Amino acid sequence: MSILIKNGEIVTASERYIADILCKNDIIARIDRGIAPPKGAEVIDAKGKYVFPGFIDPHVHVHLPFMGTYAKDTYETASRGALVGGTTTIIEMCAPPRSEDTLEGFEFWMKNAVGKSACDFTFHMGVTKFDDKTEKQLREIVKRGISSFKVFLAYKGAFGVDDTELYRTLKLAKELGVIVTAHCENETLVAERCKELIAAGKTDPGGHYESRPPRVEAEGVHHLISFAELTGVEIYIVHLSCQEALAEAIRGRQRGVRVSVETLIQYLTLDMTYAEKPKFEGAKYVMSPPLRDKSNQEVLWNGLRDGLVQTVATDHCPFDFKTQKVMGKNDFTKIPNGIPSLEDRINVLYTYGVKTGKIDLHTFVNCASTQAAKAFDLFPRKGTIQPGADADLVVFDPNYRGKISAKTQHVNVDYNVFEGWKIEGRPSVVTVRGEVAVRDGKFVGKIGRGKFLQRKPSHF
Ligand code: URP
Ligand code: ZN
Ligand code: ZN
Repeated sequence: MSILIKNGEIVTASERYIADILCKNDIIARIDRGIAPPKGAEVIDAKGKYVFPGFIDPHVHVHLPFMGTYAKDTYETASRGALVGGTTTIIEMCAPPRSEDTLEGFEFWMKNAVGKSACDFTFHMGVTKFDDKTEKQLREIVKRGISSFKVFLAYKGAFGVDDTELYRTLKLAKELGVIVTAHCENETLVAERCKELIAAGKTDPGGHYESRPPRVEAEGVHHLISFAELTGVEIYIVHLSCQEALAEAIRGRQRGVRVSVETLIQYLTLDMTYAEKPKFEGAKYVMSPPLRDKSNQEVLWNGLRDGLVQTVATDHCPFDFKTQKVMGKNDFTKIPNGIPSLEDRINVLYTYGVKTGKIDLHTFVNCASTQAAKAFDLFPRKGTIQPGADADLVVFDPNYRGKISAKTQHVNVDYNVFEGWKIEGRPSVVTVRGEVAVRDGKFVGKIGRGKFLQRKPSHF
């Protein structure tokens, strides 16, 4: 079965032109003007619409055992939501707690996804401890197609690694050509400040911000960069939220450290006042690092424009408000951290980034697709539109007008932080390797169509 997408305006990170795209057997077979439809091909009229490469969310949690509970999505719900929102590849993190075996963790996460996803997927391997056995297992996991690790400098006692473990992980990654993604916050500062705040009676969600002010994150970035400088490994800072942390990353780059920066759609559009909402409503907005003062948004948008920030992800983390966030009703340190947004990233980035003139269309594609493909060894199979690439395409209708609501979302969570927000434009047709998965904005894909993407390390 082939698909011919006619007369769309193709936009990649560097090009913009009108042409037809013929997709055959999973890949883009030809791009040209006036392609005649082969016999039996489905023809999709994209006149007046953009055609973007399938978007990639490089930071998603589907299954996450965390803070005494679990993130609620399954691959079925998460991949439906991803595709309706224009995301055709997700990168989840295998996150076995410290007490569990690393290889068993990897196999568990694979089993959770294989045959159950409508979109393509791969994993960052979470390194939540490091010893001789773990080292052997990590070598094996890389052989099985994983080319990125994830470390936490936060979450003491759960996922966090100590400095010896961090150093040894980075050395191994350098040897194997693996890129290391990292959650950067100083875990000791967080733990001490949490104790002080709770002892002083500051128990509401607003206390979360005070427990991890910008310097806590900047210290984490500085710390990681020092270790990267001494090991030569390539690093990727996840969910960077503020000017202070970005300044540390830039300083590292100036010293020659190879460091990429990811921010989140939440940090670009929401600020700390949301987490201060009364009647525990603020708990919906509790994540780490926390939502920041609004002044940071301009810094992050400018960073995207200037190439100082490479990617926009979601750190999608679906915890229900009514049954899970409520665990921290009397103590903000017990609110499961995370804000879901996998389904909305592209529409919000387009509406509040492109339409407002903060970023142009090429930057939009670059930071939501191309840069993630490059950082995580998926380019040019993913992240661009060219013959030979996977036929993951988003036909985007810029004239659509609608509103975001938890009532209509596909991801499995009982709220949406963008509830009632207007969107201007949305994916109307989405293909996964040449098969239509979304039509007129509705999911029509196949569970099980999504493949595990084997990756080869390249970051030597
Ligand atoms: O608050 C967050 N970010 N929750 C998800 C876990 C993580 O830190 O990535
Ligand atoms: Zn994190
Ligand atoms: Zn995360």
